[in-house]
Amino acid sequence: MNISIFGLGYVGAVSLACLARDGHTVYGVDIDQTKLDLIASGKPPIIEEGIQETMAVAVNSGRVRVTSNCAEAMAATELSFVCVGTPSKKNGDQDTTAILRLTEQMGEALRNKDAFHTIVIRSTVRPGTVIPEIEPLLEKHSGKKSGRDFGLCFQPEFLREGTSIKDYDNPPMTIVGCNHPDSTAQLEALFGGLPGKFISTDVGTAECVKYACNAFHALKVTFANEIGRVSQALGVDSRKVMGLVCEDKQLNISTAYLRPGFAFGGSCLPKDLRALLHVARENDVDIPMLAGLLPSNEEHINLAVETVLSRKTRKIGMVGLSFKSGTDDLRESPLLTLAERLIGKGMNIKIYDPEVNLARIMGANKRYLEESIPHVAQLMCDSCDEVLQHGEVIVLGLGDRDIVSVVRDNISAEHYLLDLVGLSDVEELPCEYRGACW
Ligand SMILES: NC(=O)c1ccc[n+]([C@@H]2O[C@H](COP(=O)([O-])OP(=O)(O)OC[C@H]3O[C@@H](n4cnc5c(N)ncnc54)[C@H](O)[C@@H]3O)[C@@H](O)[C@H]2O)c1
Repeated sequence: MNISIFGLGYVGAVSLACLARDGHTVYGVDIDQTKLDLIASGKPPIIEEGIQETMAVAVNSGRVRVTSNCAEAMAATELSFVCVGTPSKKNGDQDTTAILRLTEQMGEALRNKDAFHTIVIRSTVRPGTVIPEIEPLLEKHSGKKSGRDFGLCFQPEFLREGTSIKDYDNPPMTIVGCNHPDSTAQLEALFGGLPGKFISTDVGTAECVKYACNAFHALKVTFANEIGRVSQALGVDSRKVMGLVCEDKQLNISTAYLRPGFAFGGSCLPKDLRALLHVARENDVDIPMLAGLLPSNEEHINLAVETVLSRKTRKIGMVGLSFKSGTDDLRESPLLTLAERLIGKGMNIKIYDPEVNLARIMGANKRYLEESIPHVAQLMCDSCDEVLQHGEVIVLGLGDRDIVSVVRDNISAEHYLLDLVGLSDVEELPCEYRGACW
């Protein structure tokens, strides 16, 4: 393939060297003449393990050209990767000056090109940049229609400095968001053979994934360091602790708990988190990230309360009260907190939870229900139908198959459904729908 790469920093230089090594003809474009001269002489403009050799092989193959002329590079190629920098502004926003200026030039170059061309943004850009900002600029300057006359894609870059050539050859996955099937096919031809799945998705999702991945990495580093500081203060070897945490591939290093849903609760997580924070305070250890978890969780409940109250009806049906499906444990259940907050706001609520049935539950939970929250106990119904008949707003807090199918079968256009469990096929529902955070 004939490929142009705009921006020859860490990402662009590695891509140029690897693509040329793999047999493609690559035009490197940069506004920095020193970088162009270095590459032309077979030397990389960056320091990375293996880049000297790979760049030398690539340039010696005769398949690398460099230029500062955008139009020349686009005319000679069928696909362009954009790898210019998107640094932080003082206020934390991304500075898109370079990428937007380049976009205008690329648009002008497209105007004079008859053949179909694909532009792939690889710079990390804030979600909502490629389609709302870059696309109209390209269309304005080219006079052409995106998705028809040229393809526009976003492909997040996952390489890490220091191991970038290895990462290029062994990505965890390749994600592309494209608006033209020919562009997707070009990228699949280039990267489909690499290890890791080749996944085609929409541009917005692809943009968000990059931010989610980097935030997750930062969160993991901070988690390990905060646990490290507390362990150290207690005279415990944090490396042993975290080593053992990582041994659990079922709940810890796994997909568990990573699906957007409702607030956490129950008899363990809030209690143990509070105790950990207390231990940290006692030892003068500051752990702001872990200290932020309970307020963040509370925010999730606030959002549900606000959503229900915004409906301007008092008739609320709640399906679920315990902290998760299949248990009658009400301790620190976020659904119970939600119910109490709504009762406090004067809502007329009916609740159904098959596990929290006054006639069936026994022991501590029955006592808790009857003595501590009798006002909630009075609102319990014996059937899901009763709740659906009563409520104009239905809050779905249980995801059991049987309950979901009763809700699906009986919900009507008059209802508003606040889904806290993550139903599938929601477009088939007859009512207005809102997911907790999706
Ligand atoms: N560095 C990484 O490990 C990494 C990893 C993943 C994603 N990213 C993202 O990739 C993008 C590039 O990162 P980087 O570290 O390679 O940046 P960098 O600053 O090293 O390189 C950017 C290059 O773009 C050039 N440039 C600026 N304006 C240009 C224009 N109009 N035309 C052509 N070239 C132009 C600059 O001269 C520079 O050489 C950023 O958005 C970054 O967030 C970086």
